[in-house]
Amino acid sequence: MTIPAFTYDAIPGRVVFGAGSRRSLADEARALDARRVLVVASGYEDELAADVTGVLGDLVVGRFSDVVQHVPVVKADAAVEMTRELGADTIVTIGGGSATGFGKAIALQVDVRQIALPTTYAGSEMTTIYGLSDGGHKRTGKDPRVKPDVVVYDPELTLTLPPRIAGPSGMNALAHCVEALYGPGANPVISAIALDGMRALNRSLPTVCASPDDLGARTDALYGAYLAGVALATGGTALHHKTCHVLGGMFDLNHGDMNAVVLGHAVAYNAPAIPDLMARMGESFGVDADEVPGALFELARSIDAPTSLRDIGMPADGIDEAARRVVDEAAANVRPPELDGIRAMLRAAFAGDRPS
Ligand SMILES: NC(=O)c1ccc[n+]([C@@H]2O[C@H](COP(=O)([O-])OP(=O)(O)OC[C@H]3O[C@@H](n4cnc5c(N)ncnc54)[C@H](O)[C@@H]3O)[C@@H](O)[C@H]2O)c1
Repeated sequence: MTIPAFTYDAIPGRVVFGAGSRRSLADEARALDARRVLVVASGYEDELAADVTGVLGDLVVGRFSDVVQHVPVVKADAAVEMTRELGADTIVTIGGGSATGFGKAIALQVDVRQIALPTTYAGSEMTTIYGLSDGGHKRTGKDPRVKPDVVVYDPELTLTLPPRIAGPSGMNALAHCVEALYGPGANPVISAIALDGMRALNRSLPTVCASPDDLGARTDALYGAYLAGVALATGGTALHHKTCHVLGGMFDLNHGDMNAVVLGHAVAYNAPAIPDLMARMGESFGVDADEVPGALFELARSIDAPTSLRDIGMPADGIDEAARRVVDEAAANVRPPELDGIRAMLRAAFAGDRPS
C-alpha cells in the first residue's frame, strides 16, 4: 500500500471509556470547572438520568427532558432558554444521538461546556456536525463549538438498549466506518480507525443482539461506535448516506433500518471504483473483497435488522424519483452515480436481494 500525501485536522476532545466510567463524572465536571450543570435526557432515559444526576450531586441545577428526534428548532430554543434561566455553565447529555443533538443545539447559542454520555451507537458525540429541523426540513452544519469537551463511554449504560434499536444503530455506525474510507475527508489515519471500528462492530453486534446482557460484547460494540464517530467526523459520507438522506426525506423511513438495508448495496455499487479498499474491508470482515457487500447483508440478517426497503415502508412507485434524486445528491461520490445503476441498486434494496 502506498501512503498518499494528505492533510488531517484532528478534532480535539477527551474520552473516558470503560464499564462504570460514569462514576468519574463528577471529577470530569470539576476538571471543566463546572459549577451549574443542566442534565439533558429524554423521559425514556429517566433511570439513567437519575443514576448520573446522583453522581453529580449538588452540581445539578436542572434537567431538560423534552428530547425528541431531529432536534426541532422550537424545542431547541426551549432548551436554550432553560440553560440561560438557570445560569447553567455545563451541559451533561445522556442518551442517543437525539440527546446529544440537543446538547449541541444549546452549545451553538450559549457558551457552555459539554459532557456527553452516549447510550446508542450513533457517534454524534465525536463530530462537530449539528442538525436542526423545522417544518419537515432538516438543516445540518459544522461548528467546532458543538463538539462535546468530554465523552464518557460507559457500556453499562447501553445494556438496556433493545436489539431492535441496537442492531440498526450498529449498522449505522458500520456505515460511518465504511464511508469514511472513501468520503471527501478520507485519510490513512482515519482509514485505520474506520477499519478497526468495522472489526469491532462486525464481531460484537451478533452477540449484542442475541445476548443483550453480555457486557463484553456491549463494550466492544460501543468501542466500535466510538471509532465510527471519529471516522464520520473527518472522513465524511458518500453514496450510502446520501441515499438514506433521500429515502428518509421522501418516505419518512426509520434511519437505522435504512442503514441496515442500503449499506451492502451502496458498497456493491462503489466496489469497481475502490478495489484496494474492498480488499482492506474484506480483511476486516474475514472475507474476500468481492464478498464484502454480501457479508454486510448477512450481518444485517443475522441480527434481525431489516434487509428490504419494501419491508420498512418504501412504496414501489417511489424508486424512479428516488434514483433521480440520489444521482443529484451523490454527485461527488467516489464512483459517479449514473441513473440506470442507481435505479438497479434501489430495486435490489427494495426487493431485499443479497448484494454482490
Ligand atoms: N450530528 C451528528 O454527527 C450525528 C451523527 C449520527 C446521528 N445523528 C443524529 O442522531 C439521531 C439518531 O440518534 P439515535 O439513533 O441514537 O436515536 P435516539 O437518540 O433518538 O435514540 C433512539 C431510541 O433509543 C432509546 N434509547 C437510547 N438509549 C437507550 C438505552 N440505553 N436503553 C434503552 N433505550 C434507549 C431512545 O429513548 C430512543 O427512543 C438522528 O437525529 C441523527 O440525525 C447525528
